[in-house]
Amino acid sequence: MSSALPIGIFDSGIGGLTVANAIRKILPNEQIIYFGDTAHMPYGDKSPEAIKFYSLKIAKFLLDKNCKLILIACNTASAHAYHELLHFLGDRIPILNVIDPVVDFMVQSGTHKKIGVIGTKSTIRSDIYAKKFKEADPSLDVSSLATPLLAPMIEEGFFNNNISKTVINSYLSSPKLKKIDSLILACTHYPLIKPEISAYYNGKVDIINTAEIVADHLKERLKGLKLLNEEPAKRHQFFVSDYTPSFAKSTRLFFGEKIHLSYKPIWD
Ligand code: DGL
Repeated sequence: MSSALPIGIFDSGIGGLTVANAIRKILPNEQIIYFGDTAHMPYGDKSPEAIKFYSLKIAKFLLDKNCKLILIACNTASAHAYHELLHFLGDRIPILNVIDPVVDFMVQSGTHKKIGVIGTKSTIRSDIYAKKFKEADPSLDVSSLATPLLAPMIEEGFFNNNISKTVINSYLSSPKLKKIDSLILACTHYPLIKPEISAYYNGKVDIINTAEIVADHLKERLKGLKLLNEEPAKRHQFFVSDYTPSFAKSTRLFFGEKIHLSYKPIWD
């Protein structure tokens, strides 16, 4: 396989662009093909069956685009569809999720004992973080809280203001998150409110930015597979299953620069 082929990245919408952004920073030679399933967003309140169905269609699309690897840049789809996609892709191309690299990173760091996790209803209901931490190190205490208002709030541009502060403070003051030493932002939208979350804890809790951990993991994985691209990247491509000007406007917040979104219905 040629290392010049693109990396396929997908999310329920535009939140996964935070991961794509972290990736382009540390892997500037890699071409990204991004698919945001804006027609079905949010995944956070969908059934596992629906999430599997959508994810499979998207993986087929990225495979047809000749991607050398697929990254599920969505915690909800990682929780419910990773094994399905692993099975579907077989030994054709590798697939990564955004959960395993974070669990490995935290277990290896060995400095966290009481870990909080915030994410969508569907991610938290799956209990995937607690299960994986338990397998890796049963001495860790993991407490998870669904924070369903955060993703739509961020997508509507409500952050760094009084409304977001009130919502964030109300979630973080939950008894479930008492005495945590670290908090995993288990939704790819949340890096945008990391400063507000850090401010709430006043530096006393380690806020885990999953986007950067996943980007580092991807780099190591590509290195191991001898698939790191040495040449300058071709232009990134961004597809969405439903186009609205408001998505187009929000992309700058998530990706750090203006990008062109192409409408691509893949459900026929
Ligand atoms: N970006 C998705 C995640 O990481 C959440 C948004 C949604 O509910 O679709 O879980």
